[in-house]
Amino acid sequence: MTYAAITGWGKCMPPAVLSNEDLSTFLDTSDEWIVSRTGMKQRRISHVPGIDLATVAGRRALACAGLAAEDLDLIVHGSCTFDEQVPNSASGVQVKLGAVNAASMDVNTACTSFLYGLSAASAMVRTGAVRNALVIGVEVISPYMDWSNRNVAVLFGDGCAAVVLQPSEKEEGLLGEQLGCYADARQILRVRGAGGVYTNRGAQLGNTLWDFDGGEIFKKAVKGMALASQKVIARCGLTAESIDLVVPHQANLRIIESVAKHAGLPMDKVFLTVQQYGNMSAATVPVALVDAIEAGRVRPGSTVLMPGFGGGLTLCSHLVRWGDRVTPLAASDAELPPCTRTALELVNDIRARKGTYDASADGLLWPRFAEVDAAQ
Ligand code: UT7
Repeated sequence: MTYAAITGWGKCMPPAVLSNEDLSTFLDTSDEWIVSRTGMKQRRISHVPGIDLATVAGRRALACAGLAAEDLDLIVHGSCTFDEQVPNSASGVQVKLGAVNAASMDVNTACTSFLYGLSAASAMVRTGAVRNALVIGVEVISPYMDWSNRNVAVLFGDGCAAVVLQPSEKEEGLLGEQLGCYADARQILRVRGAGGVYTNRGAQLGNTLWDFDGGEIFKKAVKGMALASQKVIARCGLTAESIDLVVPHQANLRIIESVAKHAGLPMDKVFLTVQQYGNMSAATVPVALVDAIEAGRVRPGSTVLMPGFGGGLTLCSHLVRWGDRVTPLAASDAELPPCTRTALELVNDIRARKGTYDASADGLLWPRFAEVDAAQ
């Protein structure tokens, strides 16, 4: 039987750090509130588009696997914050990498986009539809953020990481996954309005309207990730005790602690990044995975559980068996262009561009759909 081994990994974090103190310069919030409610101390703000973060992470992952860009058959770009509406972002990464032989597709299941992308790409490698795949989790949320809304503005950050998949005859890579979606609650986490890194006439950065019922999302995230984890562990014929490492989606430290408790997973097996990166949506799990490998927490043959939850409300838990290699075959010299501004300056620039446009005052484009819209 053919498996899809993870043979390369790499991350690309924007260097500008936004602290809780920075946020409290323009929001009615405090370091004490943010740390006690979420565990977050800081997050990153990107000075480049998501495609650029993904290209650097992709080059690093390819070098780690010892592959050239031409060797790629597939690029999966997991994200919910795209630089442009059309064409897709994966094709932008493909052209920057020079991956001339690849097919390219985007996957958007919000915070779970990397994990759903991992499912899709692993299945394609396992059937032989493709051989070498690059799966990216990337998010540049800062231009989509409503920086006047303290309920959401303190929670998110930008970031990116990627993995390379290759066929293997050994039982490694993705062993199983549990996927699901609480679609009847999709309206409690919703972003409407203009975003992306390119501005159009009349549609400026940050003119988004966020619907975000934090308390409800919290409860459903705990239930969804804990149940999905229990199911995938059982389906793979394993027990909670046999999980070596948990690399969860990191939206809130208290959510992670509850999931671990409900699924019978001790916190000392959970790898945390929420303090330094916040919630990077689709980038969260792959960045944490790369950090865990670099910290020596992933060993040859390790069993790694990756629960995820996000808008939709999509949920999942992925169980991976690591292969023999936990060190890169080679390093890439790919780097981002230098960032000359502080994170607060980058955010204040987005805030200043917001202008007078009020996304909440805009109605539905086609009134005859209003009834349908209200029901969803
Ligand atoms: O990636 C997946 C999607 N995201 C999530 O899974 C996030 C899930 N939800 C959460 O993490 C938590 O619900 C939050 C961190 C968003 C909020 O924590 P909470 O303990 O549920 O707080 P709360 O919503 O009950 O709010 C408590 C108070 C409210 O004030 P009142 O109404 O009690 O006077 C909020 O207005 O805290 C207020 N508040 C803030 N205060 C200071 C909300 N945001 C802030 C803030 N700074 N940034």
